[in-house]
Amino acid sequence: MFPFIFYLVSLHLLFPVTIAGKSSAYTPIDYILLSCGASSDTISEDGRKWFTDERSKFFTSNPETVSFVSTASHQDQSVSQVPYMTARAFHDKFTYSFPVSPGLKFLRFYFYPAQYSDFDGTTSLFSVTANNYVLLKNFSAYLTVSAIIPPEASLMKEFMVPVLDKERLNITFSPSSNSVAFVNGIEVVSIPDNLYGGDRENSLPFVNTKFATFDIPNTTAFETAYRLNVGGQDVANVEDTGMFRTWHDDSSCIFGSASGVTPHRSNVTITYTQQTPAYTAPAIVYSTSRTMGPNPEINMNYNLTWIFSVDTGFNYLLRLHFCEIQLEVMKVGQRVFDIFINNQTADLAVDVIGKSGGNSKPMYKDYVVLIPNGSGQSEQVLWLALQPSKDVGSKFADAILNGLEIFRLNKSDGSLALPNPKPLLSFTPPEPEQKKLKFSSPSKAITGAAVGSGAAVLFCLLFSFIFWRQKRLCSIKRKSMERRKTSSLPDKLCLCFTLAEIQAATSNFDDSFVIGRGGFGKVYKGFIKGIKRAVAIKRLNSQSQQGAREFWTEIQMLSPLRHIHLVSLIGYCNDDNEMILVYDYMANGTLRDHLYNTDKSPLSWKQRLKICIGAAHGLDYLHSEAIYRIIHRDVKSTNILLDENYVAKVSDFGLSKMSPISMTNVPVTTMVKGTFGYMDPEYYRRQQLTEKSDVHSFGVVLFEVLCARPAVDSTLEYSQISLANWGRKCVENDRIGQIIDPFLKDQISPACLRTYAKVAENCIRENGLERPTMKDVAQRLEFALQLQEIEEAEQTCQAGDGDQSQVNQDI
Ligand SMILES: *[C@@H]1O[C@H](CO)[C@@H](O)[C@H](O)[C@H]1NC(C)=O
Ligand SMILES: *[C@@H]1O[C@H](CO)[C@@H](O)[C@H](O)[C@H]1NC(C)=O
Ligand SMILES: *[C@@H]1O[C@H](CO)[C@@H](O)[C@H](O)[C@H]1NC(C)=O
Ligand SMILES: *[C@@H]1O[C@H](CO)[C@@H](O)[C@H](O)[C@H]1NC(C)=O
Ligand SMILES: *[C@@H]1O[C@H](CO)[C@@H](O)[C@H](O)[C@H]1NC(C)=O
Ligand SMILES: *[C@@H]1O[C@H](CO)[C@@H](O)[C@H](O)[C@H]1NC(C)=O
Ligand SMILES: *[C@@H]1O[C@H](CO)[C@@H](O)[C@H](O)[C@H]1NC(C)=O
Ligand SMILES: *[C@@H]1O[C@H](CO)[C@@H](O)[C@H](O)[C@H]1NC(C)=O
Repeated sequence: MFPFIFYLVSLHLLFPVTIAGKSSAYTPIDYILLSCGASSDTISEDGRKWFTDERSKFFTSNPETVSFVSTASHQDQSVSQVPYMTARAFHDKFTYSFPVSPGLKFLRFYFYPAQYSDFDGTTSLFSVTANNYVLLKNFSAYLTVSAIIPPEASLMKEFMVPVLDKERLNITFSPSSNSVAFVNGIEVVSIPDNLYGGDRENSLPFVNTKFATFDIPNTTAFETAYRLNVGGQDVANVEDTGMFRTWHDDSSCIFGSASGVTPHRSNVTITYTQQTPAYTAPAIVYSTSRTMGPNPEINMNYNLTWIFSVDTGFNYLLRLHFCEIQLEVMKVGQRVFDIFINNQTADLAVDVIGKSGGNSKPMYKDYVVLIPNGSGQSEQVLWLALQPSKDVGSKFADAILNGLEIFRLNKSDGSLALPNPKPLLSFTPPEPEQKKLKFSSPSKAITGAAVGSGAAVLFCLLFSFIFWRQKRLCSIKRKSMERRKTSSLPDKLCLCFTLAEIQAATSNFDDSFVIGRGGFGKVYKGFIKGIKRAVAIKRLNSQSQQGAREFWTEIQMLSPLRHIHLVSLIGYCNDDNEMILVYDYMANGTLRDHLYNTDKSPLSWKQRLKICIGAAHGLDYLHSEAIYRIIHRDVKSTNILLDENYVAKVSDFGLSKMSPISMTNVPVTTMVKGTFGYMDPEYYRRQQLTEKSDVHSFGVVLFEVLCARPAVDSTLEYSQISLANWGRKCVENDRIGQIIDPFLKDQISPACLRTYAKVAENCIRENGLERPTMKDVAQRLEFALQLQEIEEAEQTCQAGDGDQSQVNQDI
């Protein structure tokens, strides 16, 4: 205990400086932090002081009779000591009563559903009411955190509850029958009167019915569902304007791969106004943004879209925060856009400068939407989409969003209660030990206890998985944001061709030019005037409505990607309703063409090694260097193409699973989607996608490259699994020699083989964390190639006819 206290003290010395260094825009009148079950007052990692609830003045009755304190048996790495490691548990109804000023209050509950010394927090079911509002009913914190993907260890629930004049705020915990209730921390923070309610001047637009409005009674309680710093990074509670709200990066809530760009201006001074006072949202929220991108034609043809998982049968309040910060947008009428919520028009011709009064002046807009009971499901997807207004003649065909808050409103009976989530897709929460490794994130330490709306953000992640078909670009937090800061979309990389140019290149789509065909249409080989090399021209079926969206998505997404080991999108053509994409032509087809059932001469070992190295670099670029973080999701030997010099080019990246567009110049009969034999078993099992899933698939490719022989029947996708498993076993038992393609047997140096096989085996490790990154893979393979070359050089020397100096140079 002693060292721990010391640790807290030192943190205490560190943090208040950073907090005190900033004077907040708002100082809450009521600010109570209770660490329930703690034996003394303590400081949390974010530097906030929590009071023990022992002998608390907030008790309404003797706690001894109905409650006891307990300590968690195990501290998950993602969980901070304060307030999560101690709890107060109740075996009967118990009320805390807080004397507070009238008005809306933030009420935050902290839960760590774990094993405790004296009770089992994972089986606990209970209800929580605040005055007359039912906030939680028969609530299982354990089921709730387990349903988040990836599962969290702890949970913060944030509510806003109105308190009348001369009222106290009474919070009552009631265990369900045969259960105990528990809580680790309670936070009460007051809210400026006019921020979320109080004397609301205007009725809010009600999205479900045209021209209808909605008055939110000031007796309404809310639960925070999402709070996003759009186009920016997480903003920790202590960085808020004084209310300790946590703002999350929005990238995981973006629908589809068209995520626009994220302009920000770090030197901007946000000028708050009377309508939008400084406490509304922190300056960092307003100084980062997400817009559609530099190409007006593309922007006019897609929607910048976010999706959220929401609960049916409730009204939701959406608050959209805006601020023009780009120096190009200074005047009224320059950026004008429409807002759609759940496919309904919520607003037309929104002009931020016009409404806020100028560049760097913030504003917000509120909307109410009812999520109807509908299909009987308890959850639904809420869509938010922005699109440039048509026919308004604005200078930039573009839209912008800087921040977003989504709140769930109580039902007319004052209830916010929800059923417990059902365990997802037969998903079983991993053991605590595994969790430990997995769920620690650097932002946690800063955000400290405030992981609750993190849970909310992770709900959108969950939906990204449900919508995984639409979503290739899986941008997960921090890493991608840092990268985006330094890059922006290059302007003119993607060419726009006329139909005449394309017709000329393909002799008016003559079948003799066809090199591939599939459900999406046909691929032609051709030469376009002005482009020196051959191109692959993919003509999509223009009837497909679905195709149109993906067509633009693909252009938006792929055009900024340029890498020697990626197939490039050269341009497109959209004349006459045609949807045509133009790529680099790959003379030597797919890697698989050269491995199985082939009449082509087999590739030498060094050729294969160099192809693998190239593909590894291409994937590493997608993972860690591209503007967006991209997980390929369909790495396999048919998606590695070879140009005339056998340089590997990764293809079919960034395409949505549903996409009919598939860049291969071999016939595609079925949609190539997350091919089974290559799929990461961990991803499959846990529904968690990471770059390491690509690493797994790449490991399978490495085994194919080493072991494949024409005799292996490649039509059975299952064979890749057995191939990888077989490979793994052979590596483990030091019998790798047995499975090598006989053609390669005498070409591979033993040292090179050992290194190569080890890399391949590491890539297909069961546990994603144990797999190397693509960067590591590329480096190890390069090392393997060096070993091969050294040995070859040595052999040449030993043969005696090698020129020594020549050999040294080669090395
Ligand atoms: C809160 O509890 C106190 C003490 O039990 C009680 O006097 C008061 O009426 C309660 N207030 C509300 C709003 O329930
Ligand atoms: C709601 O508004 C009424 C009338 O303006 C006022 O008397 C009451 O105190 C308000 N309630 C809250 C919770 O602010
Ligand atoms: C702020 O940065 C922009 C470019 O990002 C620059 O054009 C502008 O001059 C800077 N303004 C100030 C006051 O430094
Ligand atoms: C939703 O369904 C429940 C019961 O199925 C019903 O009580 C409730 O009124 C419905 N809510 C709405 C908004 O339709
Ligand atoms: C909105 O449109 C999308 C397709 O564009 C559809 O999948 C979704 O179900 C629609 N949502 C609602 C609430 O109608
Ligand atoms: C954008 O969303 C709105 C509302 O769902 C829809 O009507 C419109 O067709 C969409 N536009 C594009 C280009 O997808
Ligand atoms: C929330 O509950 C209160 C108290 O029952 C009620 O007066 C209010 O109308 C409800 N709010 C909404 C939006 O239904
Ligand atoms: C309480 O929740 C548990 C877990 O979801 C469920 O099994 C049980 O039926 C619920 N009880 C009531 C009374 O709703």
